Amino acid sequence: MESLQGRVYLVTGGGTGIGAATALRLVELGASVTVLGRRVEPLEAVVAAAERSGGAALAHSGDVRDPAAVQECVDATVARFGRIDGLVNNAAGNFVTPAERLSPNGWRAVVDIVLNGAWNCTSAVGRRLIEAGTPGAVVSVVATYAWTGHPGTVHSAAAKAGVVAMSKSLAVEWARYGIRLNCIAPGPTTTEGAGAALWASAEDHDRVLASVPAGRFGTPEEIGDLTAFLLSDQAGYVTGSVLTADGGQSLGRQVYGSPVADIAGTAAR
Ligand code: HXC
Repeated sequence: MESLQGRVYLVTGGGTGIGAATALRLVELGASVTVLGRRVEPLEAVVAAAERSGGAALAHSGDVRDPAAVQECVDATVARFGRIDGLVNNAAGNFVTPAERLSPNGWRAVVDIVLNGAWNCTSAVGRRLIEAGTPGAVVSVVATYAWTGHPGTVHSAAAKAGVVAMSKSLAVEWARYGIRLNCIAPGPTTTEGAGAALWASAEDHDRVLASVPAGRFGTPEEIGDLTAFLLSDQAGYVTGSVLTADGGQSLGRQVYGSPVADIAGTAAR
């Protein structure tokens, strides 16, 4: 993987799960990172881990739903590290509920975190990059149900679809400033947040696992690696794209005939 030495990134929801793993991967590659989240303790744990590995990180507590708090975070990042090169929109909120039981406030909470939060952060970082005249990159963590839809997560699916459309729109609009915007769509990934929201019981967990042709969940570190790649100059010609990393889940399972036996005679998963 290409070095990110000297680069500075903001990772939202950076205290736990995919955000924390991504922040630490960026630090490992030489970048300095601000982790933004609502709870300060996990953010400070990520900063401590970054510093133990010889890197630099800043914990900033705030809510991505609040444009003023986001601007404060971008300003604090520039004050501490002298610049900013990009953003990882990872903060998310989610729960599974039948749409007919979703309250106006439940819809608003998820759409505000996922879509408005991504916009607040992207516009604050984008404006800063444009003013400074420096190129940059934004990676937003979405989900394949942004384009397939998914029952029980109408709020999250609609919001993630909005993030994909936002990224594609700005990929064209901001190409002249050298700002690239891409998305990553992870499948089920071993994080506490997603687990609690989407597969809380053992039965749900096994059902989700059975839906993945690769036969396993993804890891936060795998998503962190892909994010680092998309932020790096190795992906310099990649913009407006969505990279799916879901073990084949969104492609579905074999439904015609029987699962094919492999050459050792064991049934394929
Ligand atoms: C129905 C629910 C609910 C549930 C909350 N609400 N949980 N409704 N079923 N399980 C409703 C509440 O009743 C309330 O509406 C409204 O949502 C707002 O709830 P609050 O708790 O007041 O809001 P807030 O504190 O802002 O919390 C936001 C949240 C919360 C989204 C509800 O869960 C959160 O902050 N989560 C962050 C972490 C997270 O969810 N991570 C998972 C991301 S995984 P009323 O009407 O009662 O006021 C992910 C992966 C996707 O996104 C792809 C996987 C493949």
